[in-house]
Amino acid sequence: MTKKWWNEKVAYQIYPKSFYDTNGDGIGDLRGVIEKLDYLKDLGIDIIWLSPCYRSPLADQGYDISDYYDIDPRFGTMADMDELIAEAKKRDMYILMDLVVNHCSDEHEWFKKACQDPDGKYGNFFYLRDKKEGELPTNWRSYFGGSAWEDLPGTNKQYLHVFHKKQPDLNWENPEVREEVYKNINWWLDKGLGGFRIDAIINIKKALPLHDYEPDREDGLSSIHNMLAEAQGIGEFLGEMRDRTFKKYDAFSVGEVFNEKPEEIPDFIGDNGYFSSMFDFAETICGGSEKGWYDCRQITPDEYKACCFGTQRKIGDIGFVSNIIENHDEPRGVSRYIPEGDCCDASKKMLGGLNFMLRGIPFIYQGQELGMENVKFESIDQVDDISTLDEYKVALDAGCTQDEALKVVSRFSRDNARTPMQWTDGENAGFTTGKPWLRVNENYKKINAESQINDPDSVRSFYKKLIALRKNPEYKETVVYGALEPVWEEVHNLMAYYRKGDRTLLVVGNYQKEPQTIELAGGYKKILINNYDHAAVSGNKIELQRYQFLVLEM
Ligand code: GLC
Ligand code: CA
Repeated sequence: MTKKWWNEKVAYQIYPKSFYDTNGDGIGDLRGVIEKLDYLKDLGIDIIWLSPCYRSPLADQGYDISDYYDIDPRFGTMADMDELIAEAKKRDMYILMDLVVNHCSDEHEWFKKACQDPDGKYGNFFYLRDKKEGELPTNWRSYFGGSAWEDLPGTNKQYLHVFHKKQPDLNWENPEVREEVYKNINWWLDKGLGGFRIDAIINIKKALPLHDYEPDREDGLSSIHNMLAEAQGIGEFLGEMRDRTFKKYDAFSVGEVFNEKPEEIPDFIGDNGYFSSMFDFAETICGGSEKGWYDCRQITPDEYKACCFGTQRKIGDIGFVSNIIENHDEPRGVSRYIPEGDCCDASKKMLGGLNFMLRGIPFIYQGQELGMENVKFESIDQVDDISTLDEYKVALDAGCTQDEALKVVSRFSRDNARTPMQWTDGENAGFTTGKPWLRVNENYKKINAESQINDPDSVRSFYKKLIALRKNPEYKETVVYGALEPVWEEVHNLMAYYRKGDRTLLVVGNYQKEPQTIELAGGYKKILINNYDHAAVSGNKIELQRYQFLVLEM
């Protein structure tokens, strides 16, 4: 594996709408990101991924772009964006934008022109089919529910949208579409961006000709996954995109990739892969169900461990995955992966540590460093997210009571991660002086940045230590590049692994409330990280306390 500039970095995802509001309209903005750069620098962050802030109707919170060359006025101006890139650069930090090119918005001018002249140039920017009475072009179910086909306004055609109907799919088979995409990427890279996070990219290649699949729910529709499993040849698009854009700039690119086959990993993230890196979603997928959220279950500590190790084995030293415990599409990691009732500072630190020390690039989602938790939704009216609203309906249709459906929502809703960042214990958690666009989590008086920054025992201070270890010249080589070797893999509720480089580190977490004793093969030199202020060592044995986490130098 050839070393690259981004291997050593630590990344942080910002969801701009919920990060920091500077003008009191209740919506986070780019000036808010600029104001908080020092907060991130202090934490040790190098790369910042901004969820979309392009011009957009915000039907899917910016993942529906109506102008790829503009900033939505709710987030600020292009001058703010330029300033953000420049201010980041001054601090040796990189900005990634979100590249959302599987689809655009139905308010994009391409789509408007396609409606005006479906047989013209822009009709071919989308997947259009003639409308037939009582029949859909295919029986695909969109990710956000219902058919993936919608009438093309003012015409006798229908268009494909694998996500929301306000997100028409772009036709990547059309070279003109691809040219537009590359032009846009290069335009942004010329501005000095560090690179992109690449949204929903596996969807750009459809299995052609489009056809029906076996229905998998009572609605007679079939999951998009069935189509994707059959689609061949995405690599031609992705390789072309790499060569025409990222590669020329040595830019960092991280793909939202779900369904790669093991033999394709070198193509995706090996030397000269399509992307620099891709997210590991094994943990988020585990426990899932095609039926909907109501049928998903909480994953156990042993499953969590198996997922992490499974990915590490699959990737080996082919390249670098990007490790997350949460993002803007998932519930909060601490509420999801820590057994119910056990969420506390110790367990939050343990989970953070186990994930952070894996081989790959650590991505921290805003508020994760504070141990932000899921929301307790009291009513579906408190939910904004379109996907959650659909899953609520799916749960009711499947026979759940309203209470049960709401519980499902509280557990899995994307809005869990989208509540405003908790800066202080003051009004609206210090996020805005106005009315926040989404309700602040009630626990902000207890969980907020201000109270954690100067507290050496806070969750945030613990993340700071983890980041500092990754950057420590003595340990960097091992923490960044060292091989990962699982140990005591069969032991219930224990997750442990070696990182072996020019030094050997043992990373271990007691993933339960009961203490548990480990026996080291030999002695250790030093405890580098500990989420407790002591370790119960006797001889070669260590009695790990409730959710104790250690990094030992062997
Ligand atoms: C990705 C994004 C998600 C969005 C979807 C459609 O999965 O992360 O937020 O809804 O793509 O763009
Ligand atoms: Ca604002």
